[in-house]
Formats: sequence, C-alpha cells, structure tokens
Amino acid sequence: MDVIRYDYTGALLENGGLTQSEWSAVRPALENARDIVLGEDLAQFRGEAEIPAEKQPLDAGFLEMPERLLAEHQAAGPASELGRILSTAEQMQQRVDRVVLLGIGGSYMGARALMEGLCPPYFNELSRTARGGKPRLYFEGNNVDNDATQGLLDLLGGNSKSGAAASGVDESWAIVVISKSGGTLETASALRQFLAALRVSRGGKPDGNENIADYFVPVTGGSGKLFELSQALGAHDIFNVPDGVGGRFSIFSAVGLVPAAMLGIDIVALLRGAAAMNEHFRQAPVGGNAVLDYVGVSHQMETLHGANTRVFSVWSKSLESVGLWYDQLLAESLGKEEKGALPLTVVNTRDLHSRAQQHQEGRRDKLITNLIVDRWRREPLPIGASSFNQDQLNDLADKTLPDLMSAAIKGTNKAYASDNRPTTDLHLPEVNAFYLGQLFQMLMLATVVEGRIMGVNPYGQPGVEQYKQHMNAFLRG
Ligand code: PA5
Repeated sequence: MDVIRYDYTGALLENGGLTQSEWSAVRPALENARDIVLGEDLAQFRGEAEIPAEKQPLDAGFLEMPERLLAEHQAAGPASELGRILSTAEQMQQRVDRVVLLGIGGSYMGARALMEGLCPPYFNELSRTARGGKPRLYFEGNNVDNDATQGLLDLLGGNSKSGAAASGVDESWAIVVISKSGGTLETASALRQFLAALRVSRGGKPDGNENIADYFVPVTGGSGKLFELSQALGAHDIFNVPDGVGGRFSIFSAVGLVPAAMLGIDIVALLRGAAAMNEHFRQAPVGGNAVLDYVGVSHQMETLHGANTRVFSVWSKSLESVGLWYDQLLAESLGKEEKGALPLTVVNTRDLHSRAQQHQEGRRDKLITNLIVDRWRREPLPIGASSFNQDQLNDLADKTLPDLMSAAIKGTNKAYASDNRPTTDLHLPEVNAFYLGQLFQMLMLATVVEGRIMGVNPYGQPGVEQYKQHMNAFLRG
C-alpha cells in the first residue's frame, strides 16, 4: 500500500540521539499501546457505561470514522452523510462567492489546514473562474478581535445597519458555523454579529425575520444552544458532530468535510487516505509503521534525552496550517499533569532565517521532524539565465526551486547531524487529498498512542475550561 514514509535514521545518533538499544527497548510498549488504542475503538460502541471511569472522557470515535462514512456513502449515496455534505456544498457554490466559517480550536483549524494545503496559493485573491466556481473562505469566530471582525464585515459589505440587498452570486455570502458544544463564546458572539450582517445583505433588518436559511449552514452536537438557534432560524440541514469525537479529532467529520467540500476538495480521497493510514497502523510492524515509529522516537527522545520541544519543520508554505493544526492536537491532548512536549511549527526555508540559529546551537532539548514534499504539483521552475549576472547566479541558471529546496533540506539535516542534533523525515509523496488524509490520521493516532504510553488521557481539555469560567465571571459580574 502507498503510505507516507517516516525515516528516523537521522535520530539514531551515538551522541545526543537514540541508541539502538533505546530504540529496541520501546518496541513492546508501542505494540501494547496499539492494542490498547484499537481496543478503545471497540469500547466506544459498548456504550459509556462500560468505559472505566479513569478512561473518561474517551473520544476514540475518530478512529473508525473514515471507514464508516465511506461505507455509508457507498450504501446510501445522496442520502448518506457524505452525500448530504456534497449536495449542500454544491448548492453553496452556486449561491455565493464568499463563505465565512465561524469556529475556534478544533472547530476551525482542520478546515484552514485543508484549505491552505489543498487549494491553489492565494485562493481568495483569484477570480471566480480561476477558483473553478468555488467560494472564497474566511475564518472568524476564532477570536474576539474588534478590528479583525469589523474588517471582515466591511469586506462583505455588511457592516452597516441597512443596505442594498446582494443582487447576484458575486455579492452573496454565507455563514458556516461550527461548534460542537454550541456554547463557545468567541463563536457564538461572532455568529450573532455575522447573522445581523447576513440579514442586511439579504435585504432585511439586522434583527428582522428575513429568511436566511439558504445562506446558513450549522455544524454542531445533537443538542445545545447552537442546535436550538439553528432550528429557530430554519436551517435546512444541521450537520452533526458525533458524540465520542473530540474537537481536535473531528477533521474527518462534518467539521472538516463541510468546508472542504465547499472548496471543491476531494473529500472521498481524503477519507480514503485516512482509512489507508488506519490499515497501515493496524498491520505494519514496528520499524515500518509510521505511527508507532514516530511515537517511539519522539517519546524516547523526550524521556531519555530531554527533547521536550518537538519542532515540526514543514518544507512547503502550503503546510504551515497543517503544522498549526498539529500544534493544537499535541498541546491540548498531551499537555496535562505537568507532562507533554512543546510543539513548534516552523516553515522552511523561511524560518532558517529566524529559528535555525537556535536549533543549530541552542539548548539540546529538541527533536526536529521534517515534513518533506517529494513531488511538487507544478513543473519545476528554473532560476533562469540572465544577461544581468551581477547576482552571479548564471552558474545555477538550470537549477530549479525543487533543486534548491532539496539542497536546503539535505544541507540543514547535515548541519544538525554534524553537531549531533537529531532529525527525522516524514515524506509526503505529494500534497493531495489522499496523502493529507493519511497525514492527519497518522498524527491523531500517534497522539493517542503516545498518551497511552505516557499514562495521560489524550482526550478532553480540562485546563481550557478555567479561562472560560474566569472570563464569564468578569463579563457577567
Ligand atoms: O479540541 C477541542 O475540543 C477544542 O479545541 C474545541 O474544538 C474548541 O474549544 C471549540 O469548541 P466548540 O466546538 O465546542 O465550540
């Protein structure tokens, strides 16, 4: 099977890296943790009552979700959840030129990673034709930033109390609101503000009873404030975030799939990629299993060599938001009980001019994982010859940007290795929906496997609740 490859040879260093015996020592724990994680997937279906108290919350429903959605789609076609998502996406593509996605944390970071990873660069700047008729996508409700919110309202033409109704697709916009709990303040307050602007854009009053159901797509749990509001607003379809799937593990539910489908991303290929990674995780032995090997190296480097900082070094601009999605996944899942590595995404070669000094000569507390794109989507672009050779680049005229990138990766790894600084390489054959599906699933599986090895529950985020309580107390007196 064609899966992304994890090469950890750059971490097997005599000084400062893993020794062969340290690597061999972790193998049984990895196999055991895989059994635990696969067993938890089954436990999910025996019902909450049978889940032991010390394991709760157990949001392991993400694991089998790709296979379940694909099978249901094959059996029920348009009536399946995927079918409904695809049909809503198509309607939105026909109706609007802009979509505002309101959501925070796990309710938006996946969509952003999918958009930046899989849409052409500068997507929102392109003409509708160049976008293939797909709407531009903007993200809000992920902060309470006064100026940013109003900047977007201005852009939509909706920051006024009344105005002319949108007259065609090019002027029309829609809201996708995503909140599993339905009560997150950042998202809920933005929804109220954007709904007011949406009504105005449809020719109504900010708090009028204008029917906006054609321009409003909610994704939420089976009950709660957003669910009730969506019903009151007459939403055609309320997409569900299933029980047993936590926010940061929800990219393959409607949370990630609704916006991805609107952007024209091949969501079936995405899910097939995730399912392929599940199969690989279940079957491949340690030493050739991307999930288990990644956990084994990262965990041993942290516990035996003090590599508390995990640098996720992505070698493509399009993957920065994949890195930020992973930052959240690792931090919110394992940053508990005074444990958990510090995630840090860098984008290279950009950050070689920013953070690399510290990675080369700073504290020996880092493991660098390179995320490398093996095949670029577009033909390699050469530097080119010029009659103005003052820059002295004519000897490199035939070298292409992929040649430069490849030399930079090799050069950086060599520089780190020469000072006994461990690196590992994660190879994406190319940045497409199938391989990104694999990557997201790989990182989610790795996070829960590592949690079980560390003895930390990877699900839930009790620490995040504290700021919410204090914030509410300050606001409501
Ligand atoms: O991973 C998580 O569960 C969190 O990051 C949530 O996604 C985030 O807090 C948003 O929650 P909600 O979807 O309930 O608005």
